[in-house]
Amino acid sequence: MKKLTKVLFLLCLVMGMTACSNPNDKTNLRQTSFNNDWKFYLGDAEEAVSNTFDDSNWRTLNLPHDWAIEGDFSDSHPSGNSGGALPGGIGWYRKTFTLDKNDQGKKIFIDFDGVHMNSTVYLNGEKLGFRPFGYISFSYDLTPYLKWDEPNVITVKVDNSQEPNSRWYSGCGIYRNVWLRKLNPVHIAQWGTYVTTPQVSKDNALVRIQTTIQGQETATSAELTSQLIDKKGQIVAETSSAIDLEANNQKEISQEVTVANPNLWSIEDPYMYEVKSIVKVNNQVVDTYNTPIGIRSFEFDAKKGFFLNGEHVKINGVCIHHDLGCLGAAFNTRAMERNLQTLKEMGCNGIRCSHNPPAPELLDLCDRMGFIVMDEAFDMWYKKKAKFDYGIYFPEWHERDLTDLVVRDRNHPSVFMWSIGNEVIEQWTNRSADDLTPEEANFVLNFTEQNQPSAEEEGLSFNSRLTQHLAGIVRKTDPTRPITAACNFANPDNHLIKSGALDIIGYNYNIPTYDAVPEHYPDKPFIVTESVSGLATRGYYRMPSDSMFIWPQRNPDHSLAYIDPSYSCSAYDNCHVPWGSTQEEMWKAIKNKDYISGQYIWTGIDYIGEPTPYPWPARSSYFGIIDLAGFPKDVYYMYQSEWRPDKQVLHLYPHWNWEEGQDVDMWAYYNNADEVELFVNGKSQGIRHKEGDDLHVSWRVKFEPGNVKAVSRKDGKVVATQEIRTAGKPAQVILTPDRTVIKADGTDLSFITVEIQDRNGNLCPNADNDVTFKVAGNGFIAGVDNGCQTSMERFKDNHRKAFYGKCLLVVQNDGKKGVIQVKATSPNLGSGGASIVVK
Ligand code: GAL
Repeated sequence: MKKLTKVLFLLCLVMGMTACSNPNDKTNLRQTSFNNDWKFYLGDAEEAVSNTFDDSNWRTLNLPHDWAIEGDFSDSHPSGNSGGALPGGIGWYRKTFTLDKNDQGKKIFIDFDGVHMNSTVYLNGEKLGFRPFGYISFSYDLTPYLKWDEPNVITVKVDNSQEPNSRWYSGCGIYRNVWLRKLNPVHIAQWGTYVTTPQVSKDNALVRIQTTIQGQETATSAELTSQLIDKKGQIVAETSSAIDLEANNQKEISQEVTVANPNLWSIEDPYMYEVKSIVKVNNQVVDTYNTPIGIRSFEFDAKKGFFLNGEHVKINGVCIHHDLGCLGAAFNTRAMERNLQTLKEMGCNGIRCSHNPPAPELLDLCDRMGFIVMDEAFDMWYKKKAKFDYGIYFPEWHERDLTDLVVRDRNHPSVFMWSIGNEVIEQWTNRSADDLTPEEANFVLNFTEQNQPSAEEEGLSFNSRLTQHLAGIVRKTDPTRPITAACNFANPDNHLIKSGALDIIGYNYNIPTYDAVPEHYPDKPFIVTESVSGLATRGYYRMPSDSMFIWPQRNPDHSLAYIDPSYSCSAYDNCHVPWGSTQEEMWKAIKNKDYISGQYIWTGIDYIGEPTPYPWPARSSYFGIIDLAGFPKDVYYMYQSEWRPDKQVLHLYPHWNWEEGQDVDMWAYYNNADEVELFVNGKSQGIRHKEGDDLHVSWRVKFEPGNVKAVSRKDGKVVATQEIRTAGKPAQVILTPDRTVIKADGTDLSFITVEIQDRNGNLCPNADNDVTFKVAGNGFIAGVDNGCQTSMERFKDNHRKAFYGKCLLVVQNDGKKGVIQVKATSPNLGSGGASIVVK
């Protein structure tokens, strides 16, 4: 039965999830989207704060919006190529809206899921607040300044003019969703439920529901009913409490229900329940609030690793940044879902939101798809990593931001641990925070009561006490999940580790130190918070494949610049950064060590910015197992062969278009077979099988045009074959949409893979033809890409060059039902087409 569920689940993933999820669904119906019909101006416009300001010349657009992704790459942009070499600056947004008079008397809030960065929000000329952190969700109460007889104007200033403020591409603008919440005076507060499952077994679960209710202007009594609802919509448990609410005060109510034979949330079957909270005053329902939850138990064990519902699970995770390739930072649920589907298909079961609070929908998707999330707060504390980064705001804002992150995310069953920081400079003594001003030090060290250092902790360094302070903030808000930090100073002398405040030791890279971990920290669980940093360009192969390219090399003057004329990195898993390893080396280092709970590989998907090892004009990363356009690189199949025993895998590479007589290294990843035999034009090149801890097999063969074929066998029987033929001249453009039916919701997307093929349908592996797109009907081009890290072509355009034979077109529906017709042309090639139904 379990196997069947797994098969069905994976089938759903492969089929594009249409049956499994509604990507843009928002379970919480009290909030309505406030994304559409904003006005935008790139530049400074302080006068726009006034309601009388005329914005008719401003551009009209729908959020989420990222103005940087619309720009051109340039090495003169202050973000630098590490920040993606796209423009920054200041942008203003305005939205005029009228309210329904029936809502008078209600409390009205605006919620921003994320604005990068330094946002100031005004309503009708009144400043509501300022929020510097570009990744945090925040909201404002609009009620005091609302007009009921005339239009209201919300104005948002976004200031991303001081760059560099990030080590990767941040995006600019209101790049996540915005919501309007209209509530009765008595209502459940923002993120106002906290649901935990203190006891979980197969037979029974205890569900604790803490609900924060906001009182009205006068004292009143109310009733809170909490229902636990299963996937079929049936109420499986319910409880009610009478409450006395003081005037203008919040009250927290704690309730418990039990559920017999709970459906446990797991990676294969991420079963979700919902807690429905109903608040009544005078027997009238004044608020209902839905909290999706999962019931699961978990444990990190110092010797045996990670257990989910009592079963051992290796966390096979990846780190990701927040950008969505050619869509930039502008959040789109379907785009994120596609990324997660590709990762899940690989066998990946974990996501690290590096190195900042994610879009809330990412966690919704991880809940529904079954990922083990490490939710991370910061890339820096006091000590900055870029001139204008969050370190500037950390002293004043860290407590608020960290608390808000945990309160927002603590109901997600997919979140299993908090990370309070990534490779913060405070790990080391030589760069300790001794040079803080006394005011700054006071601010941090003036901890809340439970964070006061005890006598034996008095001797701890400032940095260790800061670690305790941050962990204390998290623990106060969510005592149910362990806390870690991603440490690249993999040593017990690390101030973060010395603090004793971390529940899980988290190391980045540093394979040689893993063996000593059980000895150094006998009682602490251990996880590799970040690993590998392999480098690869999809489609580029550097031979001999057994030579290693460790880039960037250190120059005699200690700089790290390295320029190879190819501006590419070999996709044989033979290229990586000096602090990292190959993908295989890392997996071998942890595969059979139970005390290592797992790893989060840097990175699942290429991202914009940080184009290590290359300088300009490289502008996006080489680290991904999947390229920026979402196309898997070859090593994807190494993981699939290891992590998907339920799937027969055989992946032969590279392509078969070389110079006559050239030595070519052919590699194969496979599973569920005893051997693989390779044939060139029907002639056997030998049988290979993996020995010891091998993760691939290989052959060195002489190229001759024709075909190369791999055959894998188990017990003498053929279980898989793969053939690659020498491609002829580019002859046609072939379009393959990931989905041919999408929703008419204005946001749903179809990702269309564009291949340059010869006349026999073979992919031309070196083709770089420029393809022009015409999109008609109920959709438009949302972006184009090809995964090339040095391309200077715009992401928002109607054409794209193929890169190693492929590129990507993303089309978005315009909100109306109908059809989207796509035509692709390229000089001298037969044109291609696709049509997408918008329902
Ligand atoms: C790590 C860092 C990541 C990324 C990576 C590249 O040290 O945490 O953000 O920069 O290196 O290898």
